[in-house]
Amino acid sequence: MAERIPIASDHAGYELKERLRAALAEQGFDVDDIGTHGTASTDYPDYAHPLAQQVSEGRVKRGVLLCGTGLGMSYTANRYPGVRAAVAWSPDVAELARKHNDANVLVLPARFVSDEDALAILHRWLSTDFEGGRHEKRVSKIERDEADDASAGDEA
Ligand code: RB5
Repeated sequence: MAERIPIASDHAGYELKERLRAALAEQGFDVDDIGTHGTASTDYPDYAHPLAQQVSEGRVKRGVLLCGTGLGMSYTANRYPGVRAAVAWSPDVAELARKHNDANVLVLPARFVSDEDALAILHRWLSTDFEGGRHEKRVSKIERDEADDASAGDEA
């Protein structure tokens, strides 16, 4: 069965999203296009939330977000437990985001990458595995332990 992969953008990422959506479909993915569906001005959190929720709940393995800088989308997605959203501006960054950080959401800064570079970044991110090993412990330390948070201010 084809892997289901959600993709979403705001207006700044819309045109590039269309390119990436087509590329993913060509590669055989079952693409879930969350929007936006045009160039009218939108608010990026409205699109990041539903995608990050799917990843956080384990309904999909990974997803792709786009906005102008990649920042608003990554801030929003990274508020969800288990979501590791990485802004990647080059194929090498995308590769390291997978190898070292096990990034499960790729975020593209649509106003700062060419279509060609974005396709190369997407391809590298999709085709690179997490290295594990020493990175496993580091990635596991990302999630905040709520019990520790609650007692953090208790020390004299
Ligand atoms: C929209 O103008 C822009 O602010 C948005 O796409 C994104 O870059 C925010 O982080």
